[in-house]
Order: sequence, then structure tokens, then C-alpha cells
Amino acid sequence: MLADKHILLIIGGGIAAFKSLDLIRRLRERGCQVTPVLTRSGTEFVTPLSVSALCGTKVFRDLFDLTDEAEMGHIELSRAADLIVVAPGTADLMAKMAGGLANDLASTVLLATDKRVLVAPSMNVRMWDHPATRRNLETLRGDGILFVGPNEGDMACGEYGPGRMAEPLEIVSAIETALADGPLKDKHIVVTSGPTHEPIDPVRYIANRSSGAQGTAIATALAGLGATVTFITGPADVPPPSGVTVVPVQTAAQMQAAVDAALPADAAVFAAAVADWHVSNASDAKIKKDKSGLPTLEFAENPDILASVSQRKKDRPQLVVGFAAETNDVIANATAKRQRKGCDWIVANDVSPETGIMGGTENAVTVISAAEQEAWPRMDKDAVARRLAQKIADALT
Ligand code: C5P
Repeated sequence: MLADKHILLIIGGGIAAFKSLDLIRRLRERGCQVTPVLTRSGTEFVTPLSVSALCGTKVFRDLFDLTDEAEMGHIELSRAADLIVVAPGTADLMAKMAGGLANDLASTVLLATDKRVLVAPSMNVRMWDHPATRRNLETLRGDGILFVGPNEGDMACGEYGPGRMAEPLEIVSAIETALADGPLKDKHIVVTSGPTHEPIDPVRYIANRSSGAQGTAIATALAGLGATVTFITGPADVPPPSGVTVVPVQTAAQMQAAVDAALPADAAVFAAAVADWHVSNASDAKIKKDKSGLPTLEFAENPDILASVSQRKKDRPQLVVGFAAETNDVIANATAKRQRKGCDWIVANDVSPETGIMGGTENAVTVISAAEQEAWPRMDKDAVARRLAQKIADALT
């Protein structure tokens, strides 16, 4: 799948740079051509000689190396690549990317490219949790930068937490997802997933039990068939898929805005469990437990994102898929819901507690369209996702 693909690999200065040597081996085993760019601090962790030997090509290091500019300028470097991979993606490199700096070869290539960029962050847990890195991550996600990891675990600095670079094989699989060639190549698909959180005050919120597992599996399966996926997710329990553009949101209103911003798309899959109401008298300050009595919450209806996209006059995706989680009269309720909302398909499932579906690993769904009802046997949520992705591919191509 990666044979003859061309990866431009930017190796930042972090202890995880040694894993990038293994990443190069894994990519070369799969027939990939890897052109390495080593940052100045990267050379403190791995030698240009070992990088060059493993890639079987020269290492690019300096913006002002005139020979390189003559042979292959920094614009040309990224033009030849199918994908740019930044591993380790240090806090410094992420900050430069988010700020649009171009003061060395790596940052200049990253600013000058029109190719997709996949970052494997790697840093100390405190650096990862720092508000500056959080801001940069948001900015980069908004710019469509793809991410894989970081993972949680023991760190070289002796601390524990998120910040460890993803393992080489995880990065390879994110690269495969990003470069997937399949029936959905050139198709843009928006997927919503997870619950929404509706604030009561700055510390309290109303939520639901959606884990985000089914939406995440659907986004992964669609990307695996070559789609460019915008994954708009509420605060889910499962990590977002790698190799897709992730847009994190909290509330239904933010989800609606993110969906509107992501359109146009060829298809949209609404797997999120969006709260039906938000608290219209949410307080800006924490509500105190005092003698004035119990607080009274007032509710207002949230926008129905599925219905609004299904009924759009302009930029309506060719295929709109909704979900209907029901506890009784599943098929009748879901059929009525499809008509009411105006979507093309509705994926109905029974979430009564005895089914163990809500929060579980399996799902039993019926896909309802205007023409037919297809009851699928109970299977793994990943298998449901793959079958749905294939059905979407058949409908779009
Ligand atoms: O009406 P109900 O919540 O049962 O509809 C479920 C479907 O509608 C799901 O596809 C869900 O993602 C979508 N939905 C939405 N916006 C809402 C409520 C539900 O997109 N406010």
C-alpha cells in the first residue's frame, strides 16, 4: 500500500528521534522512498550518517546550503513528497508551525508546502499539557494538520503521562491511513462523534454516556477507503483516529458551527449523541450552594445538526447518514425519524440496557433508506463501521 510513496520525514530534536530510525526502516521495508530533513537539534540525538544510511539518500539540514538550493530547493523538497511526516514533533516545531515561522529548513518546508502533514508529537508531559502547546495543537488541528499520538507512559525524563511519541508501527499505520488509496479517494466526508457537554456553570455540565467508539470506528474505516475525513468530536472516551482532521468541540452549538465550517462534503455521517437541550440560563460564575435555595435550570432546544444539513438548499452533501438509538419500536421510530429529518439513510440500533450495546464493543444495526431496510447481524463496532464505509463508497462511486 505504501510502495513507491514518497515521504518527507522531518526529524525534530527530541529523545524519541532514535525511534525515527526504526520508522525509516519500517517505511523502506514497505517500498517507501524517505527523504530526511534533520533539524539542528535533531543532530544532537541521531547522526546524519545513520539517517542517511537508512534512507539511502542524503540528509537535508540547512536552509542556506546553496548546493541543495540549486539541486533541490525547499519548495521542491516538499513538492516531490506525497506526505510530510514530522517525527518527533517537538513542542518547538509545533509552536513554529502554529505561528507560521520559517527560520530553518524544517519550518520553511512546513510553511511552504501544500501537501498534507502528519505530526507525531513527542515531549515531556508538562510541555504537552502547557496552555501554549494546547493552543498550538488547536491551531494546527484547525489548519488540517494530522496527528498520531502522543501515547501515555513512562518518559525518558522519569515522569509519566501523555507525551511519548507513537511507536513506529503506529506511525506507519497513520501514514497508510493518510495516504490510503481506495474507492473514496478524492471524497470529503464529515463525521460527527461522541457526546456533547452543555455547561451549567464553568465547572458543571450536562452530558450523556456516548463513548465515541462507533463514530471513531466509522471515521477510521472511511479514511481506510481513501476518504479525506473531517472528524468533529465532542469529549469522547476513546482517542480520535489518526490520519484524519480532528475538530474537538464541547457543545452542540460548537458542533453545528464546526460542521458548517467543514462543508462542502460529499457525505456526512452524524454519529454524535448530541444533547437535545442546553441550559439557557447557564451561569458565568460557579453556582454556590447557599441558603437562597436550589438553583433552577432553564432549557432551550439545541440545533438539530442532522436535520439542518439534510435540509440545506446549498452545499447539501450527496449522502447524509444519521443514527437512531432507540429503546422501543426501533424500526418504526427510526423510519419516522429518517423522514422527519430528511436524511438519506438512518442507522437504527436498539440501546436498551439488556442489549449491552451502549458503551459495549458490539452493535446490531438496521440501515434504513427510502427504498429498503437492511438488518445486519450483531457484530463488532469496527465491523459495522467497515461495512457502512463500504456501503457509502458504493453509493458515492
Ligand atoms: O433525534 P435524535 O437525537 O434521536 O437523532 C439522532 C440523530 O440525529 C443522530 O444522527 C445525531 O447525530 C443527530 N442529531 C444531531 N443534532 C441534534 C440531535 C441529533 O445531529 N441536535
